Amino acid sequence: MSYRCCIGLLVLLLPAMSWAEFVAPFVVTPQRDVDRMMRLADVGPGDYVIDLGSGDGRIVISAAERGAVGHGIELDAGLVREARLRAEGAGVADRVAFVQQDLFQSDFSRATVLTMYLMPDVVMRLRPVLFDTLAPGTRIISNSFDMGEWRPEQHISAAVSGGLYLWIVPAKVSGHWTLSIDGHGEPMDLEIDQHFQDIEPQLQGRDQGYFMEDVRLHADRIDFHAVNRHRSYRFSGRVDGDRMSGYVHIQDGDETSVAHWQATRS
Ligand SMILES: C[S@@+](CC[C@H](N)C(=O)[O-])C[C@H]1O[C@@H](n2cnc3c(N)ncnc32)[C@H](O)[C@@H]1O
Repeated sequence: MSYRCCIGLLVLLLPAMSWAEFVAPFVVTPQRDVDRMMRLADVGPGDYVIDLGSGDGRIVISAAERGAVGHGIELDAGLVREARLRAEGAGVADRVAFVQQDLFQSDFSRATVLTMYLMPDVVMRLRPVLFDTLAPGTRIISNSFDMGEWRPEQHISAAVSGGLYLWIVPAKVSGHWTLSIDGHGEPMDLEIDQHFQDIEPQLQGRDQGYFMEDVRLHADRIDFHAVNRHRSYRFSGRVDGDRMSGYVHIQDGDETSVAHWQATRS
């Protein structure tokens, strides 16, 4: 290869190499912890599993052995080759892929289960990306390290000292919503403050506010009980982008009824 060709190749490769940053050393998750991760996330058919920093591929391969499909993202080309060979050996090469990529340049929005065994500061850097881009209901498993104020749904002990963490990505519900109940008067204002899966809704009718209790957001399911001295509304529904809908049990004096409700974010 000529001198000019070499310089040309370097100029082409340098930007890609300098963007990529090795953010964790290669340390494997012991297989018994991989099995725990699979059970914790309830991995099975229908799942798309992505491992960020997939090492020798064991997590995605174990997921495929449970009927899932998926891929691993790994910066080290040698580990990508090793993972592909292991997938062939396990007879799951048609269900998995291993790509040599920088995890910070990757799109993992299609995951239904996302796994990682990365350094604590990297997990924290990824937190807003995971919260913003993963669909409600996606299960996230982190080996050893937590995500600070984003409380895990579960934290179990494991062979690795930090244990295993599970999060379920919640729907994004913060903001101002206009809520109406079929056949029950004028729309009401619903204001929601959200901090990961913790929410604080405030409901305001035409001339009356409500006290809120039994508030819960889990994946795309939302439940809250709005009550004042005249009425009680027990809402239960699903979030779909800028819309929510479901059923509400209404207690109005001695009368109880059930009605359909919907809300739109403005
Ligand atoms: C602690 S190992 C975990 C391996 C595997 N996930 C497991 O649990 O057995 C972290 C892996 O992340 C890879 N890695 C480090 N920086 C990366 C980056 N920027 N993009 C993709 N992979 C990276 C390393 O090469 C290493 O294989």
